[in-house]
Amino acid sequence: MSKRWYQENRRDPWRRQAKSKGYRARSAYKLKHIQEKFSLIRHGDIILDVGCHPGGWTQVSVEESGEEGLVIGVDLKSTSPIHGACILQGDITHQETIERIEDILNGRELNLVLSDISPKLTGRYDTDQAISLELSTMTLDVAMELLPPGGSFVTKIFQGIGIEGLVKAAKDRFSNVQRFAPMSSRNASSETYLICKNRLPKPRKATNGMSAFEQVQAHLTELGVNVENEKQEDSEDIAVGFRRVKKKD
Ligand SMILES: C[S@@+](CC[C@H](N)C(=O)[O-])C[C@H]1O[C@@H](n2cnc3c(N)ncnc32)[C@H](O)[C@@H]1O
Repeated sequence: MSKRWYQENRRDPWRRQAKSKGYRARSAYKLKHIQEKFSLIRHGDIILDVGCHPGGWTQVSVEESGEEGLVIGVDLKSTSPIHGACILQGDITHQETIERIEDILNGRELNLVLSDISPKLTGRYDTDQAISLELSTMTLDVAMELLPPGGSFVTKIFQGIGIEGLVKAAKDRFSNVQRFAPMSSRNASSETYLICKNRLPKPRKATNGMSAFEQVQAHLTELGVNVENEKQEDSEDIAVGFRRVKKKD
């Protein structure tokens, strides 16, 4: 093991504890702290864990929902099997992935959608935060498609431009929305979780029939952020969503 590995392990009690308890990631403790505070997971719950790799949250969800429960984990990356969970490899923003989740559910209703989804980081905070906002907003729309009224949703958010639009979109869809920073989130991190309880039967009228994605786009436009899908000069691809966020001239 490298010197750096030893130093990080010594400094980070959550990483050490995760390793000693057999959790695949230190992030398992973030969900444990969310669970301690909000008791979201109950015995027998059916849970979707979005962005599940390497599996820390899935492990905690399986423990908390027990033998009667069902945990479905989905990630772009392949995740080694976890006893008691059903793991899918796929992109949560693709309709095909939603259909595979619905096939597994086979008519049963989800109680909770958890999302610790995070983009592959570029190291440029503004870009990473914008992509994360886009992913979290899309996951809120997925949660609305899959959760029945009364269901709960948790998503990671990074502080920055547009976040208030996402919080508003969540408040328009759930009766109780709170921000929570687990003590196991790194001190220097701007990461927080949005805890959304009790999905409303219908989004509030203020949404004007817009999806969460459309609402957040409208919020960014109001802030003067350009969210147009533009063709990149050096590529055939069309940029999507909030990824090309930039202030209008
Ligand atoms: C911080 S990690 C999750 C850690 C996990 N909660 C745990 O405890 O082990 C974020 C994950 O989100 C996944 N991800 C990013 N974009 C995704 C997408 N569009 N669909 C599914 N998963 C995605 C990444 O591949 C990454 O594994």
